[in-house]
Amino acid sequence: MNFKEKINKSFLPRHIAIVMDGNGRWAKYKGFDRLFGHSNGIKTVRQITEAAVEIGLEYLTLYTFSTENWNRPEKEIAGIMRLLVESIEKETPTFHQNNVRLLVIGDLYRLQDDVRAKLQGCITETSKNTGLSLVLALSYSSKWEIIKAFKDIIFDLKNGKFDEDFIDERLISEYLTTRNIPDPDMLIRTGGEVRISNFLLWQAAYSELFFTDVFWPDFTKENFYEMIVEYQNRERRFGKTSEQVSIKN
Ligand code: IPE
Ligand code: IPE
Ligand code: MG
Repeated sequence: MNFKEKINKSFLPRHIAIVMDGNGRWAKYKGFDRLFGHSNGIKTVRQITEAAVEIGLEYLTLYTFSTENWNRPEKEIAGIMRLLVESIEKETPTFHQNNVRLLVIGDLYRLQDDVRAKLQGCITETSKNTGLSLVLALSYSSKWEIIKAFKDIIFDLKNGKFDEDFIDERLISEYLTTRNIPDPDMLIRTGGEVRISNFLLWQAAYSELFFTDVFWPDFTKENFYEMIVEYQNRERRFGKTSEQVSIKN
């Protein structure tokens, strides 16, 4: 089955967010170290980014490292950070070739200076690209982001930037790290777990959810395209009735 051909290009999701899970278990089942799973996971990142470029997706957000992942063994964290720096270095020319713009959301101050500098370099270098926006959620968690937004809103409220009647959905969205990024239409999680793990809690309020048992290193372009086809066959009602949303105007 060729799912890519089945995708209706005039009805694409604008934004797909992915919890890339299952690297560690994938490696363990093969008798390798967890880091071997992470380095194979990078190959999938390359494949799925390319798949997103091929269909003309606007935003792809990848949950790369969560706030809670800082609690992992130091050796694993160091290995992930090393892989991150190496990949950014290696992939920057490909980003340009594919007109990809890199964005990062998360608590970047927790990253080591060299990691942050490498990311910042790539963000600046690719900032003029107009194709896919690839958003890495790094040292990110939704609760961290919401706490930060609360603090910033209260600060600006106290300083008279606006009064409390001004606080609405739009304003809160503006104070999140995802400002200027549309909410995800699809949220995918690989690796068999059926949970959100502190990812985009506000933004995914109306996302279509997709779960697969496939571990991230085994996830393919066709798996991705198949989910997009399924997305296009779902009816998003946003609280309305089926009759209301099916009326074409
Ligand atoms: C996801 O894979 C990648 C990161 C969280 C960095 P895991 O490392 O969580 O893999 P599993 O869930 O242990 O298999
Ligand atoms: C979620 O995966 C975070 C990322 C994929 C970066 P985890 O493997 O950390 O999630 P839990 O702890 O199993 O929920
Ligand atoms: Mg996991």
